[in-house]
Amino acid sequence: MTRKPMIAGTWKMNMTATEATKLVQQLAYQYEDNYGEIDVVICPPFTALRSAQVILDYETKSKICIGAQDVYWEPKGAFTGAISAEMLKNLSCVYCIIGHSERREYFCESDEQVARKAVALTEAGIAPILCCGETLETREAGEAISFVTDQIRAALDGLPASQAGGIVLAYEPIWAIGTGRTPSPEQADEVCAALRDTFCDLYGSAAAEQLRILYGGSMNPGNVEAFCAMPNIDGGLVGGASLKADDFLALVKAFS
Ligand code: 13P
Repeated sequence: MTRKPMIAGTWKMNMTATEATKLVQQLAYQYEDNYGEIDVVICPPFTALRSAQVILDYETKSKICIGAQDVYWEPKGAFTGAISAEMLKNLSCVYCIIGHSERREYFCESDEQVARKAVALTEAGIAPILCCGETLETREAGEAISFVTDQIRAALDGLPASQAGGIVLAYEPIWAIGTGRTPSPEQADEVCAALRDTFCDLYGSAAAEQLRILYGGSMNPGNVEAFCAMPNIDGGLVGGASLKADDFLALVKAFS
């Protein structure tokens, strides 16, 4: 079967609401109708979600949809600073990144917390983009595949098959994020194939066939074509190259 490709841009902690407005306008304006079938997602910081929603609603022809970079699993209440899935839904978020290595490292997020986020999102009708990725040390020890498949099993613990349909996985080797270094496309594909096998174990072969797996880590217009050609890579989760409309749309074009 053919899976619909996907490019998701995460702006991380970049772009004020004012700067974000400009970038969303550029993206909506420059997006070409002749791109093929592809899901294009932007994940601005929380503070720019409303601006993105208003602009993309107004640009009715826009094919770009909105994602968030994180969520808290409780539905509401006294959780200062936290953002619920329902709040994201109300801002037209269709996707939400969870388990990013930066959240795991700087905010001490555990697999168990990532699993609770996955459940909260799917219950709210938002598709998780669930990240995994190994350190360079783990790769050099030959343990990349067992490490990332364990991460995915732990994060999906508690997610029933009925809720697993919309999940997107992202393989992001930590040593490739923001460094300009990447694994070879074949190395990345090997890990993505192992992730698909793991998903098959958990949810069956039909679900695994449909599962979209993104590669992330220094993807740019110069290296994207090689990743596109890989059978188990269905798109990209992009940081740095998503901050410039031309670069981001070059990635969209390559995968579409
Ligand atoms: P870069 O594209 O900047 O390497 O970031 C990748 C990433 O972390 C996406 O989540």
